[in-house]
Order: sequence, then structure tokens, then C-alpha cells
Amino acid sequence: MNDKVKQLLKYREESKLGGGEKRIEKQHEKGKLTARERVELLVDKGTFEEIDAFVTHRSSAFGLEDQKIKGDGVITGFAKIEGRPVYLFSQDFTVFGGSLSETHAEKICKVMDLAMKNGVPIIGLNDSGGARIQEGVSSLGGYAEVFWRNSMASGVVPQISAVMGPCAGGAVYSPALTDFVYMVKNTSYMFVTGPNVVKTVTHEDVSSEDLGGATAHGSKSGVAHFTTENDAECLRNIRKIITYIPQNCEEKVPDVEAVDPDPKLASGLEDLVPLNPNKPYDIKDAINGVMDRDSFYEVHENYADNLVVGFARLAGRSVGIVANQPLSLAGVLDIDASLKGARFVRFCDAFNIPLVVFEDVPGFLPGTDQEWGGIIKHGAKLLYAFCEATVPKMTVITRKAYGGAYDVMNSKHIRADYNVAWPTAEIAVMGTKGAVEIIFRKEISEAENPEKKQKELEDQYTNEFANPYRAAARGFIDDVILPSETRQKLIRAFAVCQNKVDTVPRKKHDNLPL
Ligand code: HXC
Repeated sequence: MNDKVKQLLKYREESKLGGGEKRIEKQHEKGKLTARERVELLVDKGTFEEIDAFVTHRSSAFGLEDQKIKGDGVITGFAKIEGRPVYLFSQDFTVFGGSLSETHAEKICKVMDLAMKNGVPIIGLNDSGGARIQEGVSSLGGYAEVFWRNSMASGVVPQISAVMGPCAGGAVYSPALTDFVYMVKNTSYMFVTGPNVVKTVTHEDVSSEDLGGATAHGSKSGVAHFTTENDAECLRNIRKIITYIPQNCEEKVPDVEAVDPDPKLASGLEDLVPLNPNKPYDIKDAINGVMDRDSFYEVHENYADNLVVGFARLAGRSVGIVANQPLSLAGVLDIDASLKGARFVRFCDAFNIPLVVFEDVPGFLPGTDQEWGGIIKHGAKLLYAFCEATVPKMTVITRKAYGGAYDVMNSKHIRADYNVAWPTAEIAVMGTKGAVEIIFRKEISEAENPEKKQKELEDQYTNEFANPYRAAARGFIDDVILPSETRQKLIRAFAVCQNKVDTVPRKKHDNLPL
């Protein structure tokens, strides 16, 4: 081996060691994997090609000229996941706490630019103490360069972030600009201002985990789409989501082999919806009874659970599911559910993933919290998202489709392609009891036996309105079907829509109600 080869191998070893054995040990003690171990678990074995392993920072302040570590705190490169190319970066906490220097930022920007140019998803594994303090504004500039690229890449290539350690201050805005955020319980946190500043300003005592840990963001703020138990589970899940999404906005998701649903769930569809409209049931049983077996991958599982969203496969094709959940708040739409649904629908539309809606919605949640919180503008986001979506879109009304929520939930009027209802559907302005109390108030109060009269009128209203046939008579739904027929009918409807071309009017960009 000649000296030049020896030198290269030595440099490679140095670069691989990052901040050194001691710091690696510390990382492991915290229950975290190193940046390199994470990449190994994330990608297909032996496919990772690192770039910029020899990059070092250019700073000289505070003695930094004597502390140059090859790679400068972030591993970047490209690899394959389930056989498909991805670009990635993985911040190395053992090097200056994974802090972002000017060169560290340049490395991230380089893989982002390559991902955009080549139409390949970009995955970022974040574990960083934030701006490299010794570099001052150069570091802030670096962040802004990353943010700008996140914004430009939005809707062009899928962007996935995992927060696997600290992520604080303005640094949170890079993951926030990406399509999906994964967090790891107990070892990751995200906040704009940490517990100390919170204590000073609002006098609240709160831990990092409670303020900005995975559970807080997965259930209260909705910032995290997925919360995972540990690094390995997080990385396995990123591998999984990649299989449901395309490489870029020009491509479709590759189909996989079709698998019939669990026969027990499929045969249970017929009796799934209780005839008593006040009795709940689990809409996930409908999803799992119709979609390919075990294919449903829920997004935002613990946030706004009155609306269920996620990816699934129908005869091997990736679809986006949006479903009202009668088990939670009777499936009403509220602010959080609207935001959750709107963001998911827009992702699916941007990346050519067809939509399937399962609808059982009694309306919007009433109350001052909702009205003052802006349910009007937030509900409008979900409406807007369905209206502008040009992917094939289908709706299955399982039970209630009441009022404005009927229009919002991918109705025929806003250009859905195939809308069907189960025989249990009630498509009306509102539920029987409320409707009768409003339109027959006088008749009921003047009746000899008001209770009897009310019952009579309720039966009459139910017969006339609380069914799918009025809507079917107008062509507002395309068919009334048996629940057991849903899968086959959707498969056929998607097959006929697979080359759908729909456009929106030319514009600079839309002005959705933010
Ligand atoms: C330079 C940093 C650093 C930073 C950590 N280190 N953060 N070096 N710039 N921002 C270094 C430490 O000096 C230490 O070096 C090593 O990383 C590990 O840090 P520890 O403190 O020993 O680790 P730990 O106890 O786990 O604490 C992690 C931490 C803490 C909570 C992240 O390091 C911390 O509070 N760091 C500062 C965070 C911060 O204020 N960042 C700037 C925020 S403003 P050695 O050599 O001992 O291993 C910001 C704005 C972004 O980020 C704006 C974007 C628009």
C-alpha cells in the first residue's frame, strides 16, 4: 500500500470517527444512535455513498482553527431505500453538538440541490445544538439557505425530517417546512424557546419533554406526524413511508402486489354501521375492511383523532385516506382536524396520490373556542384542499353527511370523481332531531301530545331525508352500494381514473385561507 493510499484511508477513518470515542459513548448513554449508525439502519444495506466527508469549517474565532473535524458535524450523501434512490443528511451530535456552521449548512444545501435536480426525496436526520455559536451570523445565513431550499422543494420532491435530538430556536423551521416530521420519545425535542426562557417570561415550569417532546408534538401541537419509541423504530418507519410516496411531483408511486383485506374485517363491513345514529363505531374497521391487508399507515395517529388520515394500498396502489372517526367527538370537524386533513390532502395532491374519503360527519364542532379560534378560516383550508385537488378522488358515505361538512368532505360538487353511499347513509342538512325541532317547533308545542307529535314528525323526516336516495336521485352521489361491494367498486373506479387530467386556472399561486 503506497503512502497516498494510506493517507486516504487514514482520512476516511478520521472522518468516520466524528467527535471521537468518548463523545460516541456519551451519545449511546443517552439512548441515541450515532449519525452514522442511523444512516446504516435507514438505507438498504451497502447502498450509502457519502459525499463531502472531508469538508471542514473555515472558522478561526475562539480557537476553532485547531478544532477541525472532517465532515463538520453532518454526514451527507445518497443511498437507496427499498431499492429507490434518496438523498439524505444526518447531523452528528458528537461534532460541536451537531451545531450548524456555514460549511455544515453548505453540505446540507448541496444534497438538497441534488435532490431537487434529480427528482429524488430528501431525508434529514436532525440532532443539533442549533446555530454554531462561534460562527455567529454566518450560521444564521446557513439556516436561511436551508429554509429557502425547503420552501422551493415543497411540492417538488418529498421532504422527510426526523428529529432525533435537540432542535431549538429558529432551527425548528427546517423540519416544520418539510412534509413529514418524525420524533423519538424522550430523546428529541423541538421548541422555539426552551424551558428556561418560558420560565422567565410566563413563569411556567415545564420540562423539555413536556414542552416540546415527541408526545407533546404528536398529540397537542400536531408538529410531529409520527412519534416513535426509539431511533431504530423511527428509521424503520421512514423506510416504510418511502414505499407510499413517489420520487417527485412528476411521478406516480410504484404499485406493489395486491393483497386482499383481512376476511374477517371485510365480511364485518355489512354490519359495521349501527342503525342508531348516536352509536359510534370504528371507522378504521371500514378502512381496513376495504384496503389491502395491513396496508393502512396512519399519519398523526394521536392528534385530532376525530379525523383519521394516512396512506393505504388499494389493489397494490398507494392511496391517501381521509376519514371521519365516529369514535371521537362523533367525528365532527374542528380546527385541528381541518388543519390535519388539509395538509394531508395537499400532500397527496402534490404528489399524485389518489384520495379516498370515508365520510360520517355530523358537522362542525360548535363553541366559542372553535369560533374564536377561527374554525371558519381553518375549516376553509380543508374545503380548499379538496377543491383544488386534481388527483382521482373518491368518497364513501358510510352514515352522516350533514350540512356544510357534506360539501367539504370531497363532495361531487367540488369535483370528486366517484361518490357512493352505503344504505345506512343520511345525507341531509342536519340530523333528524335537530331538524324536526327547528322546522316543526310550532306544531310540536301546539300538539295535544307534543312527545307523540315529535316522534311522528321525526319518523317522517327520517323516511324522507335521513337516507342516501334523495342525493342519489339528484346524481349527487353516483351509486348506493352494499358495504361489501366497496372494495371492488373503488378498484374499478380508480382503474378508469388512472390517467385523469384535470387542471386549475393559471395563476401565480393560490391564496388559500391561511
Ligand atoms: C457550538 C455547541 C453548540 C452550539 C452544543 N455545542 N451546542 N457548539 N454551537 N450551538 C457543543 C458543546 O460545546 C459540547 O462540546 C458539545 O456540543 C455537546 O454539548 P453539551 O452541552 O455537552 O451536550 P448536552 O448536555 O447534551 O446539551 C445539549 C444542548 C446544549 C442542550 C444542545 O449543548 C445547548 O444548550 N447548546 C446551546 C444551544 C443553543 O443555544 N444554540 C443556539 C440556539 S439559537 P464539547 O467539545 O464539550 O463536546 C439557534 C438559532 C437558529 O439555534 C436560528 C435559525 C434561524
